[in-house]
Parts: sequence; C-alpha cells; structure tokens
Amino acid sequence: MEKAVGFFRGHIAPHAAAEEEALYPVVDRCAGGGGEPFTASMRHEHRIVRRWVAALAREARGRAPGARAFVRKADALLGLIEAHFECEEEVLLPILDDSMTAREFERQVGLRMRRA
Ligand SMILES: [Fe+2]
Repeated sequence: MEKAVGFFRGHIAPHAAAEEEALYPVVDRCAGGGGEPFTASMRHEHRIVRRWVAALAREARGRAPGARAFVRKADALLGLIEAHFECEEEVLLPILDDSMTAREFERQVGLRMRRA
C-alpha cells in the first residue's frame, strides 16, 4: 500500500503540477481564452486525484489497513486517471496540434514540462 501511494505521490502528482504550470496555460490560450479556463475541469480532476491519493495514504497508515478497501479506492483512482489521460490526449493535445508546430510545442510546453 505504501509503495502504491509512493508511486502516485512520486510520479502522478509532479506530472499534474507540471501540466498545470506548463501545459494547461498554453491550452487555455490556444482554446481562445475567455473567463473560465478551458482546462478548469481537468484542473479539478487533479484536485480529485490528490484527494483520493490522500485517502489511500490514510488507509495505508491506518491502525489496521484494509487491503480490500485500499484496492477498491486504488482501482477507482486508476479509472479516473485513465479517463483523465484520455481527455488530455483526445481533447487537449489536438487543440495544440491545430494551433502550433512541433517546434513551438517543444519551446512553449515540452521544455517547461521537463523542468517542472
Ligand atoms: Fe493531467
């Protein structure tokens, strides 16, 4: 359980933070701006992921961690993450594909994602 929580915290959380800093602002700009950011729901899903990872951590640290409850929560989290990735790949990235060249993407997003 601790290993799974460590994976989510060590890999998923930093990736989400990098997206919010480097990727989503560019998508918002390319999607036309406006009052509410285009990526608002995606950012909200990141908050849900953080909340559910915290719930997994509490389960793992509990006095009598329940493997069944942990697996059920982890499975739900993986489903959310899978759907979230699909939205990024099928909705957000095509907006950038239509808005910029690969070189512009690398300069505006790729480099910043690797630094974050
Ligand atoms: Fe994301």
